[in-house]
Amino acid sequence: MQYERLVQWAAALWQERYPAQPFTTLWASSECSNRIALQQVRAGRKLKQARYDGYAELSSPVIVPISDYGARGRRMVLTATAGAFIFRFTADDGTPFEVIYASSYFDDDVQDLTAIALVPQSRLETWAAFEVVCSRAVRPRIRRRRDVYIIGGTDAFFDPTVDWPDVILEDSLKRDIFEDIEAFFGEGVGIYRQLKLTPFRKLLMAGVPGTGKTMLCAALAKHALSRRRIVVYVSGSDRDGATFEKIQRAFQAVASARYPTLLIVEEIDAYLRGEDKARILNVLDGVESPNNSGGTLLLATTNYPDAIDDRVFKRPGRLDRIFVIPPIEDATLAEQMLRHYMAEQWHADHAVVVPKLLGQPGAFVREVAVHARMLAAHERKLEVTATMLQDSVNSLLKQMRLEGDFLAQRRPLGLETPSPNGGRRRSPTDF
Ligand SMILES: Nc1ncnc2c1ncn2[C@@H]1O[C@H](COP(=O)(O)OP(=O)(O)OP(=O)(O)O)[C@@H](O)[C@H]1O
Ligand SMILES: [Mg+2]
Repeated sequence: MQYERLVQWAAALWQERYPAQPFTTLWASSECSNRIALQQVRAGRKLKQARYDGYAELSSPVIVPISDYGARGRRMVLTATAGAFIFRFTADDGTPFEVIYASSYFDDDVQDLTAIALVPQSRLETWAAFEVVCSRAVRPRIRRRRDVYIIGGTDAFFDPTVDWPDVILEDSLKRDIFEDIEAFFGEGVGIYRQLKLTPFRKLLMAGVPGTGKTMLCAALAKHALSRRRIVVYVSGSDRDGATFEKIQRAFQAVASARYPTLLIVEEIDAYLRGEDKARILNVLDGVESPNNSGGTLLLATTNYPDAIDDRVFKRPGRLDRIFVIPPIEDATLAEQMLRHYMAEQWHADHAVVVPKLLGQPGAFVREVAVHARMLAAHERKLEVTATMLQDSVNSLLKQMRLEGDFLAQRRPLGLETPSPNGGRRRSPTDF
């Protein structure tokens, strides 16, 4: 095992450097060798019972140093790093001491670092405090954008500029979601408090891709901002992935807010895998949920309701309400959506494609309309004919069929499935 090789190497070095001093061998936090922590945690930092004095990099025959990188704001920075280090400290009584630390990968596929540390036996408190400081330095930052606090995701990721009428769904569904949220922030928070419950309400929107879940979140965020509520948006789709750390950061931000807060967590199923799952369940149960006196409403989305098992679905109180955001179910809605995306180009003939839109998500209708309008404009046609629209539908359906076949054929060749522990695996899109 790789960790055994790390420990053996570190123990031999320890014998060489501090032969008389006993040590404890620990699993360590991989964040101590993260370049962000190495840079941000400065020598001179006061820790529990000691001061941090800086670090030195070592070379080790059992580790090939390598760094990951990612975006922090607009800059690319080095992040998780495999390597060997000595961290130096001075105890409050003036005695200097050191920790030998090594981090490395177990295998080529799973990008999870394994880290070990050899710590003087009497210095565990200081080391634990140092790990906490390093983790804090590495955690994804909260950025503020158009008054939305964004954790993870890229800058252009979430834009709360969608107007409520632009979300086209069955009226009663829209109304139910909207009224649930308004009732919570209105009278609900007081009722929760009367019952000595943490004012934390949890709604899930589940539906196949492209039905408008993200759009709905954006419209509800816009509305929340207009009511002077705080909006926090958590995305797992950046290089840091779907980690509990992000949810925790969001809760810290929310708990200290003391304002009504809308907390949006997209693709929550991704957090419900592997080790983080138990912690997320704790959050949903209320053990670790934010006690924000202004009330917190969690709006979560998923397009894999199957990945959310019965422990979440069937136990009342974990998710208070589940709203299914369906594909287009009836002709009235299909026509309404098509009219919306055809806008001033709409013509009564266009309704011939309506039957083909049933069962498709909103994203499909948008693409059909945009594609047809674009080709018409390109060919200098003044209007989009029904035939053009039909061609657009057919070509998109054909493409979807081909995509399906392609993926089905690709899988046996070793197409990667997401790592079960939530860790990031390399995929061709990383390069
Ligand atoms: N119900 C809808 N009303 C109006 N437009 C829609 C609707 N559903 C989808 N669209 C259009 O399709 C685009 C993609 O939808 P959106 O990203 O909201 O889907 P999603 O449900 O979040 O999908 P995913 O599960 O893949 O994240 C929207 O930006 C919008 O232009
Ligand atoms: Mg989405």
